[in-house]
Order: sequence, then structure tokens, then C-alpha cells
Amino acid sequence: KKVLVLNGPNLGRLGKRQPEIYGHTTHDELAAMCIDWGHALGFAVDVRQSNHEGDMVDWLNAAADKDIPVVLNAAAWTHYSYAIYDACAQLTAPLIEVHISEPLERPEVFRHTSVVTPHATAVVAGKGIDGYHEALQVIASKLGTP
Ligand code: DQA
Repeated sequence: KKVLVLNGPNLGRLGKRQPEIYGHTTHDELAAMCIDWGHALGFAVDVRQSNHEGDMVDWLNAAADKDIPVVLNAAAWTHYSYAIYDACAQLTAPLIEVHISEPLERPEVFRHTSVVTPHATAVVAGKGIDGYHEALQVIASKLGTP
């Protein structure tokens, strides 16, 4: 069973980007962990990252067409992109919203809004990289696998 893990802007610099907030794990390391965690749950996990909003909309539209579950860290788009809101609205399989930090506890008020949450089956935030593991486990429990 295929599962998509989709990461938005600036997450390609994980490990170098504000490590005091996002930790020292790189995006490549995160991708390898997601593949391993997914494998243990019976999933073929495809991990993607883009800084280009259109890529994300295309990936979400393909997930809608194919009824594929999605783990989504939309990063800054979370807080203002109605294109991402509309794309999430079309998903039919579970959508799990992930944030490495806890946006609701950060000082910037713009982080306190999410366009993803209204469409999400669950939100996992503030648990670091392990949040992706938890998100995959939520998908497994929703789908009843393994
Ligand atoms: C983030 C939180 C967002 O507010 C921020 O714009 C990000 C990363 C997180 O994973 O904690 O880029 O989604």
C-alpha cells in the first residue's frame, strides 16, 4: 500500500535550518526513516519535498485521483495557502498533518492558523521527527493494516 509523505518549503534544509527548533536530522535522513517506519507497517512510502507550491498541488491532486493516504508537512503554506486548502479538501484517503515544532506554541501569530487542519484526519505537532512515525501509525490504524 502506497503512502505519500509530502514536505513543503524550507524542509529541504532540515539539519541546517534553525536546528534549535527543527533538530539536526537532515531531509535525506528523515526520508530514510519514513521509508523504514512505513515498511514495518506494510507501506511503500514515497517521500517528497518541494519549495514550489505548484509541485505540492500536483502531488496532492495525484493522491486524490489515486486515493493515496498522505502525511503532509505543508510548512509555511500551512498558514496561508488556499491552493493547499483546496487540494487537501479533495483527498479521500486519510490525511495526517505533521509539524516538527508546535506552531500553536510559537510566538508568530501567523503560525496559529492552519488551512490543512479542517481536512486532516489527525494533527501531529511538536514531536520532532518522531511525529512522522506517529503519523504513519495513525494511517495504519485508520486503514486497519497490517
Ligand atoms: C513547520 C512549522 C511551520 O510554521 C513552519 O513554517 C515550517 C515548519 C514545522 O514542521 O514545525 O516551515 O511546519
